[in-house]
Amino acid sequence: MKASEVRQKYINFFKASLRKHTEISPAPLVLEDDPTTLFTSSGMQPLVPYLMGESYKDEGGKVVKRLVDSQPSIRLGDIEEVGDNRHTTFFEMLGNWSLGDYFKKEQISWFFEFLTDDKEGLGLDPNNLYISVFAGDEHVRVSGKVTQSLGPDVESMSIWSGLFRDKGIDAKTANIGNKKPDIKNGRIFYYGAEKNWWSRTGTPSQMPVGEIGGPDSEVFYDFGEKYKFHEKSEWKDEPCHPNCDCGRFLEIGNSVFMQFQKVGEDTFEELPNKNVDFGGGLERTTAATEKTPDVFRTDLYNKVIEAVEKTTGEEYAGKEKYGFMELMRIIADHMKASVFLISEGVFPSNKMQGYLLRRLLRRSMVKMQKLKGDVTSTIGDLSYIEIADAVIETYKDSYLDLSSKRDLILKVIKEERDKFGVTLQKGLKIIKDYKGDQLNELNAFDLYQSYGFPYEVTQEIFSEKGKILDKNKFDEAFKRHQDLSRKLSAGVFKGGLADHSPEVVRLHTATHLLLASLRKILGEHVVQKGQNITKDRSRFDFPNPEKLTDEQLKEVEDMVNKVISEKLPVNFEVLPKEEALKTGAIHAFNEKYADTVKVYYLGENLNEAFSREFCGGPHVANTGKIGRVKIEKQEKIGAGLLRIYLVLKNN
Ligand code: ALA
Repeated sequence: MKASEVRQKYINFFKASLRKHTEISPAPLVLEDDPTTLFTSSGMQPLVPYLMGESYKDEGGKVVKRLVDSQPSIRLGDIEEVGDNRHTTFFEMLGNWSLGDYFKKEQISWFFEFLTDDKEGLGLDPNNLYISVFAGDEHVRVSGKVTQSLGPDVESMSIWSGLFRDKGIDAKTANIGNKKPDIKNGRIFYYGAEKNWWSRTGTPSQMPVGEIGGPDSEVFYDFGEKYKFHEKSEWKDEPCHPNCDCGRFLEIGNSVFMQFQKVGEDTFEELPNKNVDFGGGLERTTAATEKTPDVFRTDLYNKVIEAVEKTTGEEYAGKEKYGFMELMRIIADHMKASVFLISEGVFPSNKMQGYLLRRLLRRSMVKMQKLKGDVTSTIGDLSYIEIADAVIETYKDSYLDLSSKRDLILKVIKEERDKFGVTLQKGLKIIKDYKGDQLNELNAFDLYQSYGFPYEVTQEIFSEKGKILDKNKFDEAFKRHQDLSRKLSAGVFKGGLADHSPEVVRLHTATHLLLASLRKILGEHVVQKGQNITKDRSRFDFPNPEKLTDEQLKEVEDMVNKVISEKLPVNFEVLPKEEALKTGAIHAFNEKYADTVKVYYLGENLNEAFSREFCGGPHVANTGKIGRVKIEKQEKIGAGLLRIYLVLKNN
């Protein structure tokens, strides 16, 4: 089936009078005013406020509780996984939502009907479908009258087995008790939070306080034994099951029962509504209808792969053993994602979204060079024009038509290609002078990091000078770098001082006071989500369900000014991270710290301090030096996310 047909069938299925969903317009790839993320990476992201209880109104102003759409998305956490049969940076997520309306029974039955029905749906054989459900997690304690841990999702399990039974299929639960998951034992699998809990930020323990999530149930398509690549892998003696990653199964849809909000360590509360958040990859679902486990063989990639074949003179099919297929997929994937990002106004740079675009473009250029066997040349005009055009052509008749942006897209890619060419030349000059000990892995990595100089190129030139690089050592350095950019893609924002002017330093200390005061007045769920300080003001983002009342704002401001008038000393201690954590100092969630950290404290000693924070400084010597401050304004900048602006009064 063509992807456009799958997309349209899905939307029609949920809009149909029996199910009455309202079709909504997808959000842009870069969400404005959402400091928690760099890209839209799932269909639910623009809908968070409504999942948290706000009413969704359609264009006519009527409250609606059932929504459906197809949401273009970008996921960069998986960039190293691109190259296999199923991971892509850009993808479309088919999504349907219940905002406190239907729940497990309807969601599971409808999705099953959509997949299997010959007329309204995709007509997939139910014998090829495998299911996972949440096994429960003792760390998810749900507080209500009694606080209890969340058990296995037997309700979803029994709905699924009933649906299969109606089709004459005995769908047993495969891994009850201590049995290892194995498709020989059944069709429905229990997995823990690692696999069957969904939130934007991962498992229950990884989620920051304030974040929403819930157990989920996934559907996998079985392409058959011949696609099992186990034999080649480290798991060759393990039994096969939907999550074993052997290549035989493809996850094609995930129904999240989005009903919890994290309120404390391991503690969750029910949201006002029991919601459904469904997401299914259009590329993978289309692959299932085509009975190919390779999304790059669907019509969403055919033309792009053909363009790569044409410009490199290599063939996609039959190159598996040489890794060529992997290179072609990476080129097709990265160019497609780049084309979409540029079309939405992202340009290559060294920061944030622009940095990630640059990385995608340069990486695809390097892979192109590798494929052509000439690692020092840059991508030719013809290559990128053909590939970008193939992407545009693929989406021409859909809601994602990019034709009107063609000139811009080509111009941006060309400029980046030229810049990269210059960079490569610079790197080549540096390498020329390297001799003896300088031909080492750290320098190779430095060339990569500072000049975007690909490992393959460095390796080749070093080997001409008689040095064989150790890829493991290079990878270690690379891994450290990668962790950093993962963090960036995950949208973890680090506070930092733009400059060290007296105003900025005063506001920096004042911001520590602000955070400590907010926590004392509103509660410990207040954490730093974003911070930006200029000479004129400090901007501080933190989670809170509601805006603060005028009284609360005044209370916070008064508390900050009171501590200022007490002239508390400001000091720090350098401690091993474990010990620093024990002091109860505030630290950013998900943030990785070095083994020793600085803990700044405002007060006579660390234990009784008014505020303790992991922080690099600098700060004023005592709080009196700040002078009086004022909360200038507060804004709601996202679901459950507030922003406060703090200014110096006697500036
Ligand atoms: N939000 C869920 C996901 O992205 C459906 O998998």
